[in-house]
Amino acid sequence: MRDNEPGTQGSTHESTHGAEVTLRPRWRRRGLVWAFLVGGALVTFVIATLLVSIVQRKAEDQSTFVKVADLSETTFDPSVWGRNFPPEYEGWKATEQMEPGDQVAHTPTAQDPRTTVSQQKLEKDPRLVTMWQGYAFSIDYREPRGHYYMLIDQRYTRRTLERPQPGACLNCHASLPEITTKLGNGDQAAGWAAMNKMPFKEATTLATHPVGCIDCHDPKSMALRVTRPAFIAGIAEYKATQGIKNYDVNKQATVQEMRSFVCAQCHVEYYFKGQEKTLTFPWERGLTVDDALAYYDKVGWTDFTHKLTGARVIKAQHPDFETYSQGVHAKAGVTCADCHMSYKREGAMKITDHQVRSPMTSDVTINQSCLTCHHTTEADMRERVTTIHDRYEHAKNVSFDALTALITDIQKATTSGTPADRIAKAQAYQRKGQFFMDYVVSENSRGFHAPQYTLRVLNDVTDASRLGQLALLGIEPTTTTKPALQPPAPTS
Ligand code: HEC
Ligand code: HEC
Ligand code: HEC
Ligand code: HEC
Ligand code: HEC
Repeated sequence: MRDNEPGTQGSTHESTHGAEVTLRPRWRRRGLVWAFLVGGALVTFVIATLLVSIVQRKAEDQSTFVKVADLSETTFDPSVWGRNFPPEYEGWKATEQMEPGDQVAHTPTAQDPRTTVSQQKLEKDPRLVTMWQGYAFSIDYREPRGHYYMLIDQRYTRRTLERPQPGACLNCHASLPEITTKLGNGDQAAGWAAMNKMPFKEATTLATHPVGCIDCHDPKSMALRVTRPAFIAGIAEYKATQGIKNYDVNKQATVQEMRSFVCAQCHVEYYFKGQEKTLTFPWERGLTVDDALAYYDKVGWTDFTHKLTGARVIKAQHPDFETYSQGVHAKAGVTCADCHMSYKREGAMKITDHQVRSPMTSDVTINQSCLTCHHTTEADMRERVTTIHDRYEHAKNVSFDALTALITDIQKATTSGTPADRIAKAQAYQRKGQFFMDYVVSENSRGFHAPQYTLRVLNDVTDASRLGQLALLGIEPTTTTKPALQPPAPTS
């Protein structure tokens, strides 16, 4: 064992074998062999590991995955999909997270067991209550929050607790394929028709998940797809206005378009058509607010009769997709997913962040969402968005005051002997002003999705309010923006 004691005995030992004097001590020679063996093995190991890792990284970048669960058209539960795609599933679940400032504590009651809700918009702006007098929105209308909450917020809003609603409400608040498959015994079209006309309280008991993987993805290929009949019909009508006949969105849309279309299944203006309560999008003429109003005037649609003025008016809701479509980002091919589901790195993997939320949430999200295209700082991006919001708020306040004044004046006119034809004309202006105002305030980006377009629509609101007030006085200036004189009779 002394041989193994470095530097002490070796040379003595070698000196006894003259020929070997120039050689290294035996322990050193053996050590060298070992070093080669171990070193070689190490190098091989490191190279092999590197290779494996490179291959893995490449594979990860191509989004290959470990297939644990078999997915099919009846795999409704997102947690099963989550076994194959853990990071996307984690993101999806994270839509439960709320920013502290957005949370409002709620004391659970027998009727409404929620412990948190989002802020009440009606308290922030009482003009909304005036605008919606006579309609369910005047009793409860809150800020939106993450997708996790869509089912329960709909179940426990006073709009469904205290007013009858149709099953058609579920279209955009639940994972749909499960409900329509079960209701129609496998025939989704039949299931959809049945769901729409059921009472909401019955329909909601059939829902188990908020919008799930199966709503946006093909279970075999994971390709994006749309599953909502109203969108499939609506986008075909819109494409027809562009000269494209018989458009089949799931076959003809580009991947880029799909990154917005999956969202446009829900983030759009809609109404429930006829006794069947068929969810319908007013896109026959196009995607602008003018197109929507012209459509509703043509089909004679009215949501409610205004309690204070008797005007037959239309409630607009969340035209996020239509408004975005009028902006520079849509023109440049930027999609909803680019900003609200940006790519993020998980190790070497590039994945789509499934925590759908505001891109302005933090510097990290601004970086992920905006700085990929805009080569500037997070602070600058934030400043640009704040400026748009501030200008929007200012313009909105001006128009909303004008509309509120018109409503007050018509209300007074109905009890002060003003000639009926003048009131009818003023009511027509209210119908237009109210729909345009509602369209802007129920759009969720506070001006960002299409800043100039949004200000243009608000300008029309101010104008309609002014013309309505003049109509009450019997004055009719020449105008290029006159609405249909007689609002159509209510259809429901
Ligand atoms: C075309 C899709 C669609 C339909 C149909 C739909 N919603 Fe929604 N709903 C949305 C979207 C998108 C949001 C989130 C954006 C927002 O709040 O404006 C939302 C938000 C909500 C919210 C939370 C914010 C609020 O308004 O207080 C409630 C509650 C709600 N909807 C209830 C209903 C009820 C009741 C019905 C049926 C009368 C219905 N929804 C039908 C798409 C839809
Ligand atoms: C509202 C629609 C929507 C829902 C719901 C949804 N996804 Fe996605 N998903 C997307 C979009 C958009 C992309 C980006 C696809 C593209 O650009 O080709 C995507 C991409 C993916 C990808 C491709 C890899 C990646 O990260 O880019 C996987 C895997 C995936 N989603 C899994 C899931 C799983 C699992 C669920 C359910 C827990 C789910 N998705 C729910 C819209 C959705
Ligand atoms: C099945 C209908 C549906 C689809 C599809 C859908 N959403 Fe939503 N979205 C909703 C509803 C409903 C809410 C409001 C939920 C609530 O307040 O309880 C909402 C809320 C949001 C919010 C507000 C989140 C917050 O934290 O305040 C954003 C942002 C959003 N959606 C963007 C998107 C984007 C982008 C897509 C497409 C990738 C998409 N949504 C697809 C129905 C949908
Ligand atoms: C160029 C980026 C961009 C694109 C594209 C985009 N958005 Fe937005 N969106 C924003 C910004 C910025 C806001 C304002 C967020 C804020 O101030 O917190 C916003 C706000 C929203 C909100 C309200 C979020 C909240 O927290 O209340 C919803 C819902 C929404 N967008 C849906 C959509 C949908 C649906 C599409 C596609 C039709 C879309 N957005 C396209 C950037 C974008
Ligand atoms: C995929 C690329 C892309 C992404 C992502 C993107 N933008 Fe843009 N943005 C553009 C393009 C292109 C324009 C138009 C530039 C032009 O025409 O001069 C634009 C224009 C703008 C404008 C000027 C708007 C106007 O109406 O004139 C603002 C503000 C803006 N972007 C903010 C944002 C914010 C905030 C985000 C992130 C939430 C974002 N952008 C994400 C590409 C992008």
